Amino acid sequence: MYLLIPAAGSGRRMGSSRNKLLLPLLDKPLLTWTLAAVKASRSIRWVGIMGQPNDFPDFKEIVSSLGMTKCVHFFPGGATRQESVYKGLQALPAVAERVLIHDGARCLVTPDFIDRCAAELLHCPGLIAAIPVKDTIKVVEPVTQLITHTPDRRHLWAAQTPQGFAVEPLIRCHQEGVAQGWEVTDDSALFEQCGLPVKIVPGEESNLKVTTPMDLAIAESILRQRGV
Ligand code: C5P
Repeated sequence: MYLLIPAAGSGRRMGSSRNKLLLPLLDKPLLTWTLAAVKASRSIRWVGIMGQPNDFPDFKEIVSSLGMTKCVHFFPGGATRQESVYKGLQALPAVAERVLIHDGARCLVTPDFIDRCAAELLHCPGLIAAIPVKDTIKVVEPVTQLITHTPDRRHLWAAQTPQGFAVEPLIRCHQEGVAQGWEVTDDSALFEQCGLPVKIVPGEESNLKVTTPMDLAIAESILRQRGV
């Protein structure tokens, strides 16, 4: 299975001037934990990491510190996650039929879960890891800050990564997104906008995306609980 890792973000919401994926988590750069899970996955054979070129020396050091034997390639990312993924898709080998996409910032993903998504992807054109939401979600009018409605929680799932797709339709969806000016925060949204089916793979609650300093503290505590 082919895997693309968007890793070209910044540390803005983390309050950091550098890429949050290079911040220490239990004394190792955050991206090390993500890549350790990828290394241990049995299904992933080829890895493409989209990053800002000034981070490549650090990324390469992480890959070599893990002694990864899988093929790992580095590609320049874009100004948004959407752009970074599109660039990665364009860099995939022509023989790639299916691809998993996993955010570098979801550093607590487990190798087994990656393998489960890879296995499921052989039977459907699109899937995402997701978990049912625990909170009641409000839709809020941005200017007045008044609630417009409360969707039925039983139908709400929080999207995670890995997300997986057949490569050819996903590239077409990204092209359509560029043509139509769609701005999305995951790849599933492009598939959905194009009317293509996306299946849910019930995810792991611990598979959080590290965004804020609080997430970093939670991630650290989960890793300690795992006894790493
Ligand atoms: O900012 P956020 O955490 O939502 O980003 C999700 C993932 O997308 C992160 O792993 C981040 O590095 C990546 N990203 C990217 N290119 C961007 C912005 C974010 O690859 N321009």
